[in-house]
Amino acid sequence: MYNFDEIIDRHNTNCIKIERCQELFGTRDILPLWVADMDFRTPDFVLDAIKQRLEHPILGYTLPSPDFATVTRQWIATHHDWNLRQEWLGFVPGIVPGLAFAIQTFTHAGDEVIVQPPVYYPFFNVVKNNGRTLVCNQLIENDGKYVMDFEDLEQKISDKTRLLILCNPHNPGGRVWNRDELQRLAQICEKHNILVVSDEIHADMVLPSSRDRHTVFADVSAWAEQNTITFMSPSKVFNMPGLISSCSIIANEQLRLQFQRFLEASEIQGGNIFAYLAAEAAYNHGETWRCEMLNYVQKNIDYVADFLKTNIPQIVPMLPQASFLLWLDCRKLGMESDELHRFFALKAHLGLNKGTIFGAGGEYHLRLNVACPQSVLQTAMQQLLSSVRSLNV
Ligand SMILES: Cc1ncc(COP(=O)(O)O)c(C=O)c1O
Repeated sequence: MYNFDEIIDRHNTNCIKIERCQELFGTRDILPLWVADMDFRTPDFVLDAIKQRLEHPILGYTLPSPDFATVTRQWIATHHDWNLRQEWLGFVPGIVPGLAFAIQTFTHAGDEVIVQPPVYYPFFNVVKNNGRTLVCNQLIENDGKYVMDFEDLEQKISDKTRLLILCNPHNPGGRVWNRDELQRLAQICEKHNILVVSDEIHADMVLPSSRDRHTVFADVSAWAEQNTITFMSPSKVFNMPGLISSCSIIANEQLRLQFQRFLEASEIQGGNIFAYLAAEAAYNHGETWRCEMLNYVQKNIDYVADFLKTNIPQIVPMLPQASFLLWLDCRKLGMESDELHRFFALKAHLGLNKGTIFGAGGEYHLRLNVACPQSVLQTAMQQLLSSVRSLNV
């Protein structure tokens, strides 16, 4: 059994979650529960692979280990029932950079790119900062979960629309999109010839409570297979995002070559010496750790959901099917978004992501990261309860 209760001090490691608190929350006196990395120890099989490499005294230019692609392919095939071929795989130094590279490769300035807010906020940046036009197909909340608005999507598509960025599973809502929804999306994109970039970084974190399994978007139809750029990574699920080890998966040979040419022309040379080793170790040895981590995260989600229901019913969490992020609907506290954020930071001393950064639909929301020891969440809930009580709402 792995120990997820251990409290690990992350001070003096230049950890973003701690170091940017003053700037973002106006105080350092805060429990940081925002950036989506885990406060759990990165698993020993990953740390050991790195330590073993460090036994050799030269950290020179290094090729990917010969097994990196094989192990990655096997993991994806086994976990997601996807019969992908090894040659479809490529290394990208981070998924967000991968999204930006895809936009630069497959669209031109002024082309329209669709995203589905509320959604992981760098999606907006990679579109806007590359001079493309952002089009938002807002998700609808239905029965406590997000669903896609296909009518709105069809209306928003124009002859300038080239690409759609899909968050599969979804952050911040934690939806595991099912095959029917993804097939419908694929049909619309096929009808209008829109390339799909599917960010599947949360794919390996479907929670025990979810009735749905992860569905790879590229696997929902023959068209989708040939018209999707998929990004996956062991970084989030094995808590090693600082190593930057992600991959692109492109079945369509022409698109794959186009993407490779872009990376080569930009002299993007692949990963650092530890990225491949860590990915390989994680995929080779990580299954038990992954399952135990997800069980622990599920208990944390259940704990927070029960606590809020009993003690602070004004805050309603969206129950995620995947990942360790809880999307909190705080509209019943009766505060505007900025006030809400300030209240959490300065009264409850809790650092959560402000909902509005996730775009339309994020108003009155905050995103809570529950990938931490449960004792930390207990402290957080007590702090929240006493500050809400002082409001008399
Ligand atoms: C949907 C999504 N994509 C990408 C990332 C980050 O990917 P990377 O660190 O590989 O750029 C995150 C991190 O939270 C995420 O939630």
